[in-house]
Amino acid sequence: MLGFGHGRLIATVLAATALGLFGFANTGFGAALVGESRRVELGQKAPAGIDAMKALYRRPATIPFPRENAYTPEKFSLGKKLYFDTRLSVTSAQSCASCHSPGFGWGDGLAVGVGHGMAKLGRRSPTIVNAAWGAVFMWDGRLANLEEQALGPIQAAGEMNMPLEQLMARLESIPEYKPLFAVAFPKEGMKATTLAAAIATYERTVVSERAPFDAWIEGNEKAISEEAKRGFAVFNTKAMCATCHEGWNFTNDGFQDVGLPSADIGRGEFLPNVIKMKHAFKTPGLREIARRGPFMHDGSLATLEAVIEHYDRGGVDRPSRSDLMKPLGLTSQEKTDLVVFLNTLTSNLSPTAVPTLPR
Ligand code: HEC
Ligand code: HEC
Repeated sequence: MLGFGHGRLIATVLAATALGLFGFANTGFGAALVGESRRVELGQKAPAGIDAMKALYRRPATIPFPRENAYTPEKFSLGKKLYFDTRLSVTSAQSCASCHSPGFGWGDGLAVGVGHGMAKLGRRSPTIVNAAWGAVFMWDGRLANLEEQALGPIQAAGEMNMPLEQLMARLESIPEYKPLFAVAFPKEGMKATTLAAAIATYERTVVSERAPFDAWIEGNEKAISEEAKRGFAVFNTKAMCATCHEGWNFTNDGFQDVGLPSADIGRGEFLPNVIKMKHAFKTPGLREIARRGPFMHDGSLATLEAVIEHYDRGGVDRPSRSDLMKPLGLTSQEKTDLVVFLNTLTSNLSPTAVPTLPR
């Protein structure tokens, strides 16, 4: 998993894998990636057929941790405690888990986040599942890594509203924290950067549990229904979903406008001159998806059925809209199959299990 570390993005690579494999050349997808960077798995050949497709979705065996913040069990324990500790917010009412909760697939089940003083945030709380594999963070990709991300919500007035100085003073006054920081960070001890490093380490261990889909990918033909198998095929071919939702975590970490009517310009704020970035948002992964509604950056689609209807219609036709977004002409059977397939990406358990951690 070495090639997946943070900060090792490969600039502007065409969606060669998905496009080449499934024959979706000439989609103009390259244009949608102008000015963007994304990671790519090199060296994949282009075999044909369902087995070849399945091969692209195998779960990785290990979690990638960045060299700058390598995994240790001590950082993990400290990070976990901090993640669930409401004392990180000024009113001691909110923790990270208030908005990224295991019970809601590590989101919050709301259309938009609700923060300090019950203030509504502008966007939906995304899941943190499989964040270890994320190339960029936030719906608009404004943050590069989890270490940088962690201190944001703590200080944000609309979220936990806690000035860092005040937070560090508060943590100093809680006897249990000092020794935990001392063992996790023997050289640095307790400070904002080590707090962020510990939370990020914990977040990287939040990996989606094995789902029925994984058992099928690994050869158990009985693990999912025939509808789901047909849905997988539609996902990869006619509906073109896999062009953006690719690989085992179902994301290309790219930004696209999928034609939702929201006024939010997303990635366009940072790339005002790139037409395709207006209204573009990061492609979310689809693991644990059945637990994560309502969907989209604005929570505007309540169910997976509504999501499929949206893609089938193609969304708002505007210059920024991805060239892949157009009426698909799906039959009602294909729509049902897609929903059944998407449901196989959700595990039966809460996704807290840690696969293989480095020593
Ligand atoms: C009040 C709700 C709320 C709280 C509390 C909160 N978050 Fe978030 N979080 C959000 C929202 C909303 C976004 C998306 C904002 C955006 O994209 O503009 C987000 C985005 C993220 C992301 C980016 C995920 C991705 O895939 O891009 C991570 C990681 C994250 N939060 C971790 C945390 C951590 C760690 C904490 C605690 C220190 C925390 N959050 C506290 C609401 C919250
Ligand atoms: C052009 C790239 C692209 C294509 C094609 C595409 N998606 Fe998406 N998908 C996205 C992006 C980007 C978002 C987030 C959009 C937003 O919130 O504005 C998204 C969001 C979703 C969500 C909601 C996830 C969440 O966490 O809210 C689901 C479910 C989904 N897509 C399924 C599909 C299915 C099924 C198909 C095929 C019918 C498909 N997508 C085709 C890029 C794409």
